[in-house]
Amino acid sequence: MEFNSKQILTKAQKGGYAIGAFNAANWETLKAILNAAEKLKSPVIIESSPGETDYFGAENLACLVDNFRQRTGIPVLINLDHALEKKKIYHAASHGYDLLHYDGSTKTFDTNLKNAKEVVKRLHKQGKLVEVEINHITGGSSLHSNESVKSVQGLAKYTTPEEAKKFMTESKADILAAFIGNVHGVYKDAPKLDINRLKEITKVTNCFFSLHGGSGIPGSQVKAAIKAGVVKVNVNTELRLAFKNTLIKVLKTNKEAAVYKYMPEVIAAVQKVVETKIKMFGSNNKI
Ligand code: G3H
Ligand code: ZN
Repeated sequence: MEFNSKQILTKAQKGGYAIGAFNAANWETLKAILNAAEKLKSPVIIESSPGETDYFGAENLACLVDNFRQRTGIPVLINLDHALEKKKIYHAASHGYDLLHYDGSTKTFDTNLKNAKEVVKRLHKQGKLVEVEINHITGGSSLHSNESVKSVQGLAKYTTPEEAKKFMTESKADILAAFIGNVHGVYKDAPKLDINRLKEITKVTNCFFSLHGGSGIPGSQVKAAIKAGVVKVNVNTELRLAFKNTLIKVLKTNKEAAVYKYMPEVIAAVQKVVETKIKMFGSNNKI
């Protein structure tokens, strides 16, 4: 079953809500995300990084998502998250991924733009949407309990409206991941987003906006970013932490030999995080 990605994102934009893009690293995380989507009647984006995609298999992930779409009719899009290599993008696209994030943010502006143009030209012919990133969003998707957000934000360069306008106009990409103070991971303190900057960027561009580093950002700021135009919020770390912490706890007490019997508690913990985010993003009951 296929959905029109552009229509789904446009509906979110017009409706003033965002769609959660949740990283699925294995069947259990995928199941947790899909359970939450079904329970809350919410569209969702399932995403996998190149590492997660290699582990899962693009064709396996796409097939499981399609089974869910067929059964429920719920709009679920699949996104390749932060792909640096073009060949990985084309591989995922050929296996049914709907959105492809070309991340050339560590390259020079010109090289990033040149590559983005090539990716967009090829994927638009296949009806896919392309996300680009022009200022590297720093940090890793894990718990950094001894680090302050500022130290990681300091490694990044805030996106300016001028560069966003040039990049999006020339690349013709569909989604922009801008740096407005958002970082990957969870820190000892919370980030403060530059919402005014985002508003200035949206004034001079004509594209969708994604907010990366969705873990650990206070709900009020996420909501302000959605109000300013964000339609896709990426979340990974909080799912990873729920998975790992719950699994460790379960393994200490559950002496079952059957592996599948460990998993319901782990899935429930991840699902709880996803449900909280869906409600925060306002995408519940939007089907
Ligand atoms: O691309 C993935 C996201 O930006 C995840 O960020 O790990 O801080 O939730 P997060
Ligand atoms: Zn990201």
